[in-house]
Amino acid sequence: MAVRNIRQMGDEILQKKCKEIKEVTPRIQELIDDMLETMYEANGVGLAAPQVGVLKRLAVVDVGEGPIVLINPRVVETEGEQTGEEACLSVPGKYGIVTRPMHVKVEAWNEHMEHVELEGEELLARAFCHEIEHLDGHMYVERAEDGLHEAVYEEEEE
Ligand code: NI
Repeated sequence: MAVRNIRQMGDEILQKKCKEIKEVTPRIQELIDDMLETMYEANGVGLAAPQVGVLKRLAVVDVGEGPIVLINPRVVETEGEQTGEEACLSVPGKYGIVTRPMHVKVEAWNEHMEHVELEGEELLARAFCHEIEHLDGHMYVERAEDGLHEAVYEEEEE
């Protein structure tokens, strides 16, 4: 496994539409493993393949409940609304206020290419929506209600 370089906003690959995955080849499996490692190393809750320069419909999410692999994901149902802070590993040091559904149902395939239906609430719903949008070349900054704000980080204790 290896940590991959995270593309930053302004990189045109982040504005492109990604292609469907037809099978999990060893190369895709390696990409999944690398994306998880890259997400954890960057303390993110989600990462989409275009963020590491690969135009495939693949994202990983972990909101603290364990890793979720999303292949060819699609939001199939939404309910309610939440407005809150959102950030992205491709836009470090910033956050924005974004309104998302409170609850989403997502259809996807897992790393064994099994069809799965996932439900997410609150942060998980937000993460699903955010990552799936990356696969169509969109970023949360387009939805940020009053622009981007500087994030203030607490100093990490070593
Ligand atoms: Ni993002």
